[in-house]
Amino acid sequence: MASATILKSSFLPKRSEWAAAARPSIGRQPVAVSFTVRAGSYADELVKTAKTVASPGRGILAMDESNATCGKRLASIGLENTEANRQAYRTLLVSAPGLGQYISGAILFEETLYQSTTEGKKIVDVLVSQKIVPGIKVDKGLVPLAGSNNESWCQGLDGLASRAAAYYQQGARFAKWRTVISIPNGPSALAVKEAAWGLARYAAIAQDNGLVPIVEPEILLDGEHGIDRTFEVSLKVWAEVFYYLAENNVLFEGILLKPSMVTPGAENQEKATPEQVAEYTLKFLHRRIPPAVPGIMFLSGGQSEVEATQNLNAMNQRPNSWHVSFSYARALQNTCLKTWAGRPENVKAAQDVLLVRAKANSLAQLGKYTGEGESAESKEGMYVKNYSY
Ligand code: 13P
Repeated sequence: MASATILKSSFLPKRSEWAAAARPSIGRQPVAVSFTVRAGSYADELVKTAKTVASPGRGILAMDESNATCGKRLASIGLENTEANRQAYRTLLVSAPGLGQYISGAILFEETLYQSTTEGKKIVDVLVSQKIVPGIKVDKGLVPLAGSNNESWCQGLDGLASRAAAYYQQGARFAKWRTVISIPNGPSALAVKEAAWGLARYAAIAQDNGLVPIVEPEILLDGEHGIDRTFEVSLKVWAEVFYYLAENNVLFEGILLKPSMVTPGAENQEKATPEQVAEYTLKFLHRRIPPAVPGIMFLSGGQSEVEATQNLNAMNQRPNSWHVSFSYARALQNTCLKTWAGRPENVKAAQDVLLVRAKANSLAQLGKYTGEGESAESKEGMYVKNYSY
């Protein structure tokens, strides 16, 4: 691993010093009912980081595919899954000129957080110079949940505090933990509780170590169910998530959410219009998400690039109480990766395509996307059954 880089850039919030005073003293608080929230030494820095990521007209580039998933991406363009190929691809992404105009945060896999570009600059430094906050995937992936109906749970709490502290030293300022909920397999009460509890423990640990936690219980697109069923499951899942976030004293102003949009299952014959997706999704947000939360950064989940942009735009054309934005992987990278095809001479064209998608989603964050000039490729769906990341 490379040596630690301590970021000096002024746009990254510094560790605050007020918090020792702000930390509630148990002796001075009413004992039975405590309305206090976590206000550890990073509290105001967490709030600042979350606001920076949730800034108008910007969203997150999720480029934290695990090595296994990145291997599938590279295989799709005929490349081997080597560190050099992963480095070349990620260099292309982070050094797209002017990316920071549309992208406020980039989620990295651990390898990338400690990696340099092909020109030898630290990837973290390149992001900071683009005014993009570096983030880190901290979960250790999904495994079968014993005692459930073929559902999964997400590993990674063991040793998380020390890993999170090291990631902060390396320049990360936010984190991601992705767990999944399957509608066709239940979801069982056990799977929902496990997902919500794991997310809440992770969020508390991340905040204690200066990282804004992205809370992501992905409700998978798999299934034949209609949009009403997705809505009902979303309400259930997010009620439990917030219950346990509160129990773990997580500071709501210092988190970001990464929900799935409310859509019909991928195998349902009926497709929802962007207006329907916006209506259902905003209704679920209004019923479950406290206004203290600074940003809702949706995942794309297998929607086509254009669909994900249209749905985001429709949400931002209606009144809503949050910064409603994107944290897309596939819906930002798909045509970029294909355009690159592993050839150095295509790097500029691929970066241009990435910037087109980033700009389209930036406009959608502002409710100003018109859909003009989109390629046929960007309209192709990317749904994969039982998708892992
Ligand atoms: P997709 O946008 O491809 O669903 O991925 C986002 C992500 O980060 C999943 O955790």
